[in-house]
Amino acid sequence: MRLKTNIFLWAFLASILPLIVLALSAITYSEKQYLKDVGREVNASLNNIVSEIDRRLYYERQMILSLANSAPMKQYLPVLRSMTRGDLHQGYFQLSDRLENFLSGFQGVVPGFRLIRVLDVEGNTLIKVHFGMGVVGSTDGIESTPYAEEQIDDPVFVRQLAELPPSVLSFILLPKSRWSVKDSRGPKMFDAIYPLVYKKETAGYLMVSFSGDLADKILDVVPRLHNGKLQVSELNPDIPARDGMVLYDDSLGLRFSRRDTSPMFLGAKKGNPLLDAARNKPHGEFQTDAGEFKTYYMEYLPYPNQLASWVLSARVSKHVLVEPFDQIRLAILWLVVVAALISMVLANIGAKNISRPIIELGRNLKRYADGDHGSRVQIGGADEIRQMESSFNYMADTLEHATEERDRARGMMMQSAKLASIGEMAAGIGHEINNPLNNILTLTKLIKRNLPAGNESILKDIESLREEANRVTSIVRGILNFARQIPPQYTQFNALDWLEDTLSLVQQVSKSKHIECHLLVDPQSVIEGDRIQLQQVLVNLLLNACQASDGGSEIIVSMEKCGDRQLIHVEDHGRGIAEHDLDRIFDPFFSTKEVGEGSGLGLSISLGIVERHKGSIRIVNNSDGGVTATVELPMSANDVKKNGDNS
Ligand SMILES: Nc1ncnc2c1ncn2[C@@H]1O[C@H](COP(=O)(O)OP(=O)(O)OP(=O)(O)O)[C@@H](O)[C@H]1O
Ligand SMILES: [Mg+2]
Repeated sequence: MRLKTNIFLWAFLASILPLIVLALSAITYSEKQYLKDVGREVNASLNNIVSEIDRRLYYERQMILSLANSAPMKQYLPVLRSMTRGDLHQGYFQLSDRLENFLSGFQGVVPGFRLIRVLDVEGNTLIKVHFGMGVVGSTDGIESTPYAEEQIDDPVFVRQLAELPPSVLSFILLPKSRWSVKDSRGPKMFDAIYPLVYKKETAGYLMVSFSGDLADKILDVVPRLHNGKLQVSELNPDIPARDGMVLYDDSLGLRFSRRDTSPMFLGAKKGNPLLDAARNKPHGEFQTDAGEFKTYYMEYLPYPNQLASWVLSARVSKHVLVEPFDQIRLAILWLVVVAALISMVLANIGAKNISRPIIELGRNLKRYADGDHGSRVQIGGADEIRQMESSFNYMADTLEHATEERDRARGMMMQSAKLASIGEMAAGIGHEINNPLNNILTLTKLIKRNLPAGNESILKDIESLREEANRVTSIVRGILNFARQIPPQYTQFNALDWLEDTLSLVQQVSKSKHIECHLLVDPQSVIEGDRIQLQQVLVNLLLNACQASDGGSEIIVSMEKCGDRQLIHVEDHGRGIAEHDLDRIFDPFFSTKEVGEGSGLGLSISLGIVERHKGSIRIVNNSDGGVTATVELPMSANDVKKNGDNS
């Protein structure tokens, strides 16, 4: 996976995903709470409607009771009694008129009382008040009672009337013949009926049919919470024909007061969720249409003596309720898209920033592997990357140092091997030459001694022979010295004294060339090593310096400590060493000097001595001309042992 994708995923998952989950959970939780609140609110509203209707119906019923107990009604009771006995009361017309007028006036004040009837015990209408007016009675053909409506002649209805508790307001359905709307199901509301008692006997009935205006007025003005649709339907286990009759409905425009020839019904036969729910529980809520609508309902018993009840329901579209939440969800979705885009852009930038040094580091590693050991990375970027970069640089430095050390060690080993093999050979040659040389010298002495006088030229030749033989002798001594490899005898000596002694040994040469030798040495400095062998080294270096220097030049001998090593520098201002000779100056018999001036053994012998002290010699050209030869020695013999153990 690319670094950019990786960073994007991590940044997105770590920062945005928890936020999204949090936001969506918060919204879902708020939505649930809101729906709960809505439920409570709608239920409370239904409760208020029920209480209001109940309160108004109570007052209506109180009015019916006050009608029943009014003076015109009381005065009319004897008329009713006479009717029961089959007599026509003498004050029938006068009292009927008075009661009719009274009831008409009353109806004018209370328009919700659509019809007021006074019935005799047979259920026939003696007085009927409609639209604030009395209905003129028609005289029965056989009898002479002027009934306001046709005689009922319905024994079931008469029995129902007879069963009514006296002086108690009840509700009843008039027989079909009395329904003003010609419908098989009957009016929307039951009629109120009150048995009128005269001298402890039921003399007739006061009956009031309602227009439903009152219920409409209440229901029309209550607020529709959340655009809910209000509906009232009848639940009637007693009269299946009325079960599920819709009395009031916002969606259908149905009202209590609207008399329909064919009233609407909730699918009572097939089963209706509202009716089913109301039959199970008097109030509650349920969802319909695949959860699109939520219906809250409450049952109300409007008639004290009937099992019929009204189910008030409010149907709320869930879409209306959850729309704001859906909008927030949509907004979050957009935010997620925008955040994802921003994350990608940032991840891109971040990946570039992070990967650039890593790629650079990778390139450097490859370059290093390909042999460019001088390659180093620039430190920069994040802390971890800086660490990697400095680790790489450190590794490269360490490897470079190790390579240098290895090369130096290898060079020294080769040098030592070379010296050893040459030394072996030189020792053999020196030994073999030494005897004949001694013989030559002895013979020249004898010839010189026995030569008669006057042979001057022969004597001169013999003298030259002796000189040449002596030169060969000194070369052979040098060879033997080189080959001898005597182990160092360690002593501790003062460096300053030792150097002064050494300088005095080359004094003759230096003075002849007017060369100044300076000592820059701490008088307390101490050296541990073979005093004589090390002096031989210093003499060699000083002679080389003198031989390379011009007259009047100066040589500086100094000492310094470097960790557990002691450094002795011999610095001259002579002609320096040619670049191509630098690798060969330690080779035995390598010399740039005139024949007879130098044997080329000085540095190789010196290196042999110093290496036996576990030290080293470095000879470099100075930047301002001349050469600095540096002898590096361990501080003490213990260090030598340590180094020896390690090596
Ligand atoms: N200080 C120096 N300045 C210039 N060249 C030097 C110096 N020291 C050494 N050399 C060079 O290194 C060569 C080898 O030196 P080395 O001391 O081994 O031999 P040599 O001096 O020539 O002879 P020998 O020391 O045996 O008399 C010298 O011939 C010279 O070219
Ligand atoms: Mg020399």
